[in-house]
Amino acid sequence: SARPRVLSGIQPTADSFHLGNYLGALRQWVAMQETHDTYYCVVDLHAITVEHDPALLRQRTRVSAAQLLALGIDPDRSVLFVQSQVPEHTQLSWVMECMAGFGEASRMTQFKDKSARQAMDRVSVGLFTYPILQVADILLYQANYVPVGEDQRQHVELTRDLAQRFNTRFGQTFTLPEAFIVKDTAKIYDLQDPTSKMSKSVPAGVVELLEDPKKSAKKIRSAVTDTGREIVYDTENKPGVSNLLTIYSALTGRSVPSLEADYAGKGYGDLKKDLGEVVVEFVTPIQAAVQGYLDDPAELDKVLARGAERARSVASETLTRAYDRIGF
Ligand code: ADP
Ligand code: NA
Repeated sequence: SARPRVLSGIQPTADSFHLGNYLGALRQWVAMQETHDTYYCVVDLHAITVEHDPALLRQRTRVSAAQLLALGIDPDRSVLFVQSQVPEHTQLSWVMECMAGFGEASRMTQFKDKSARQAMDRVSVGLFTYPILQVADILLYQANYVPVGEDQRQHVELTRDLAQRFNTRFGQTFTLPEAFIVKDTAKIYDLQDPTSKMSKSVPAGVVELLEDPKKSAKKIRSAVTDTGREIVYDTENKPGVSNLLTIYSALTGRSVPSLEADYAGKGYGDLKKDLGEVVVEFVTPIQAAVQGYLDDPAELDKVLARGAERARSVASETLTRAYDRIGF
């Protein structure tokens, strides 16, 4: 296909994706199906870089795939698969580990954040080399673009660097990818602390797609807002209100200025109540669709097996070429 190729992955490390995942990344995955040749994976290999429970991982991998389908990833238009079902990921990862400098890998800020405040013997080597597995994920499919949140930009840069290094040393093998970051929603903030990003590690301020919608509406009604009373988008002085406006705009397709105009003279309470309703309306059909996939496990298995097979046909070709170039 002449369309530019896209690869992205998401970890099955939570019971549910959250609004930040959706608005910062997944909604772009869905949109890119119209214009790109899209490869999407549930990256369960990444999920074992931290301590995990096997039964829970298996369950979350399925629920993650079901959520992607429910959000609009179409398994006929996209190659949707589970990373561990495509062994080429770990095979190429080793090769790329041997391309990376130790210092270079040590500069990955996400590792620094995730390993901070832990004894080094409790941090796995896999957590350290995680970005290089991500490099392999991307390069196997010769992806041109990688839709990610801002926090992943550095890993895409690393991918470019290692691909370039391999190509220079062994001959043209890999496409150099670019990060594709949705500007407006690159970062959705925590509802309780609108200066830090919404993340599954801080449940109080996170809207989970699969939680009881009433709970989501309640979290939004009790979101931290700012002093003053005017509903205006001002990230510096009104991070809380601005975050709510960003979410509102992204979920409804209405522009922020038109929302500001609508809420002129109204209070924070009105905005929060309405946004709560918008969120309930958004998640309700998604939850029903997820349940549909979970109720038919044989069908879900079939979809994922077919995705893995299609992924392997591309990945094995790249791996064969890379192996040949390095002398295997
Ligand atoms: P978390 O930060 O909750 O651990 P992940 O790291 O698994 O989430 O992120 C999965 C995807 O969602 C990544 O592409 C990431 O950039 C994006 N993402 C996560 N949190 C946010 C957020 N608050 N705003 C925008 N994008 C986000
Ligand atoms: Na993260």
